[in-house]
Amino acid sequence: MENNKVLDAFNKASTDYDKYRKQAIPHMDIYYNTVIKLTENYENPKILDLGAGTGILTQLLYKQHPQSNITLLDLSTDMLKVAKTKFNNKKFKYITADYLEYDFTENYDIIVSSLSIHHLTDEEKKTLYAKIYETLNPQGIFINADQVRGSTEHTEKIYKNQDETHLSKQNIPEEEKQTLRNRRKLDKPATLHDTIKWYEEIGYKNVDIYYKYYRYFVIAGEK
Ligand SMILES: C[S@@+](CC[C@H](N)C(=O)[O-])C[C@H]1O[C@@H](n2cnc3c(N)ncnc32)[C@H](O)[C@@H]1O
Repeated sequence: MENNKVLDAFNKASTDYDKYRKQAIPHMDIYYNTVIKLTENYENPKILDLGAGTGILTQLLYKQHPQSNITLLDLSTDMLKVAKTKFNNKKFKYITADYLEYDFTENYDIIVSSLSIHHLTDEEKKTLYAKIYETLNPQGIFINADQVRGSTEHTEKIYKNQDETHLSKQNIPEEEKQTLRNRRKLDKPATLHDTIKWYEEIGYKNVDIYYKYYRYFVIAGEK
């Protein structure tokens, strides 16, 4: 099962995952901070981080909303184990689960996700986006920092070249570069056009793109 490959890849990556993120993701600070800025007008929001991994985005959310209840959900126990070492906070909840299968029993003001949902097929993405909509409180927001596929074969080729050009220039061990290349084989990003269309069909309001650099983008929609 493809899911098992994703789980296996992130369980294996967990220990050294944080070490090379800044090199692996172009302009990572502005990319992640775009998500945080979109949450600024919420006061003590209840937050859910889907595919939270080692909690890199969660940490920025916590800094912005230190009084908030934050739930981290991830398929990989090992990734969450690393996250737990960062937060000594009783208000945090950790859920090891597949977000497609998990039955959410609570609602949230802000649901975020970073670099996770592109591991799903397009049908699964649509199902998850609808599930997230149902899990949001009224006026809640879903902010997703993820990757898209090029809108044509030609532009996808440009994205792929950019991925490789960026990675090859980074000062990180060759073995790590290979691990990242192998993990990319598990990616199934959708086009930006389809993603926006699905959000609007589901009923999200004020759907917009707040950041885009080659395949990296931040999209948000409100309930
Ligand atoms: C590239 S990491 C991103 C982690 C973190 N959000 C970040 O920005 O560093 C992707 C994470 O998504 C998780 N993931 C992938 N598919 C998932 C699923 N179906 N359900 C829950 N988590 C999933 C993986 O286990 C992994 O920890």
